[in-house]
Amino acid sequence: MKIQTETLPNLVRVAVHRGNLIESFVGMKNLVVVGVQWGDEGKGKIVDLLAERYDVVARYGGGHNAGHTVRIGSDKFILQLIPCGVFRPGKKAVIGNGVVIDPAALKREIAMLADRGIDVHGRLFVSFRAHLIFPHHRMMEKAANTGVRIGTTSRGIGPAYEDKMGRRGIRVADLLDRETFREQVRLAVREKNLLAKALESTEQLDESQVEGEYAEFAELLRPLAVDTAALLNHELAAGKSLLMEGAQATMLDIDHGTYPFVTSSSTVSGGASTGLGVPPTAIQAVMGVSKAYCTRVGAGPFPSEIHGPEGEEIRRRGNEFGSVTGRPRRCGWFDLPLMRYARMINGITQLVITKLDVLDHLAEIPVCTGYKYQGEILQEMPALASVLEKVEPVYETRPGWQSPTEGLTSYGDLPQRARDYLKYLEDESGTAICLVSTGPEREQTLWAPSASIG
Ligand code: GDP
Ligand code: IMO
Ligand code: MG
Repeated sequence: MKIQTETLPNLVRVAVHRGNLIESFVGMKNLVVVGVQWGDEGKGKIVDLLAERYDVVARYGGGHNAGHTVRIGSDKFILQLIPCGVFRPGKKAVIGNGVVIDPAALKREIAMLADRGIDVHGRLFVSFRAHLIFPHHRMMEKAANTGVRIGTTSRGIGPAYEDKMGRRGIRVADLLDRETFREQVRLAVREKNLLAKALESTEQLDESQVEGEYAEFAELLRPLAVDTAALLNHELAAGKSLLMEGAQATMLDIDHGTYPFVTSSSTVSGGASTGLGVPPTAIQAVMGVSKAYCTRVGAGPFPSEIHGPEGEEIRRRGNEFGSVTGRPRRCGWFDLPLMRYARMINGITQLVITKLDVLDHLAEIPVCTGYKYQGEILQEMPALASVLEKVEPVYETRPGWQSPTEGLTSYGDLPQRARDYLKYLEDESGTAICLVSTGPEREQTLWAPSASIG
């Protein structure tokens, strides 16, 4: 980004100068990009943008429940498993051990990219230690349709992680070893058929069919599979920089999210270390990505949710429909207690605010500043989803700017009230904003001034 600073007023010039400092710092540090809220914050767009400055981009968790959108001019890509660094020629892309892989989904994604002129061969690496998703995982997800309704993506994610933790999962390395795999898969399908029957499901799977189907996937995975932890650590030792792409988000984390309305993996920044085999000491910065408002797809507590036409208008303007499932996303206002919690859990060093343009029409913008429960303001995020469900959000209303910000690429061009809104979020969350996204395309981004540098 080239900015002619000479013609700008003094204060803006200082701001732009600080922005440039932050810009130059990105790419020098090993960085985790993590979702602050309940997913779909625009992580894909941000990872694609930053990937230009990194040598290696790696996904550390989740599976094809993720949908990361990248818009390059009029081209739109949605990636579910492959890191969003692949659009940058020559960059290495790694799927780490923390990811659960449905080989059929990976195959589709590689083919989709190839069709559109992007060849991942020779630069996409998949961990030997990553666990695989099988048809029996989807079957179990359907069969176990009792108890709490979480509104999952139905892709077998939870059951695959269950098997991993239960020490009966099947990994990429197992699949590549014909004999081991044969035994494991037969046992797994047999066991899951019994369980499905016990849960009164009518679905049953054929062992040989699954085995045969996966034997084909073995040939897809064989040239891609390596010890990715070793690869990443060698790259780091050689002075290469690493960008770690989070999937899902803080409030969907298995430990720190709104349990049980969460996904089944460690989505927070700490998950990057275990999900890649990169030591925590190698992680030098954590970038939190948050919308200028808030969304959630699926069930679970959402204190700042907007009910009624105002929420529908934001859904329409922000095109808030799941990139993968097409489900309408629930919309709400920016939530400061959630933001502060995410900062604490992830150790966020910089914040990215996306979809600022979606709020352009509003005369006033409420921001949730606290949660009231039984007459008291809560000091910490409640552990019980049932409590979070009942909290009463406290709001402060900020003035809107009612002027278009879509596509702006310079901080100095933002309306004063939009800058005030960002400054307010920065001050109240105690987190420096380094980037602001003003549209879905790569270029529709601006580097913001920040208190943390310069
Ligand atoms: P992710 O899962 O965090 O990568 O986010 P998704 O790709 O699921 O959802 C984000 C959606 O918002 C995508 O459709 C993006 O193209 C779009 N998007 C990202 N940044 C912006 C922005 O600043 N403004 C607008 N209007 N859309 C954006
Ligand atoms: P990205 O990476 C938004 C939600 C599901 C459901 C819950 C559990 O695109 O931000 P699962 O299938 O994972 O067992 O479902 O988690 N969920 C997401 N919501 N963005 C995502 O990923 C999500 N991945 C899972 O809707 O509520
Ligand atoms: Mg998404």
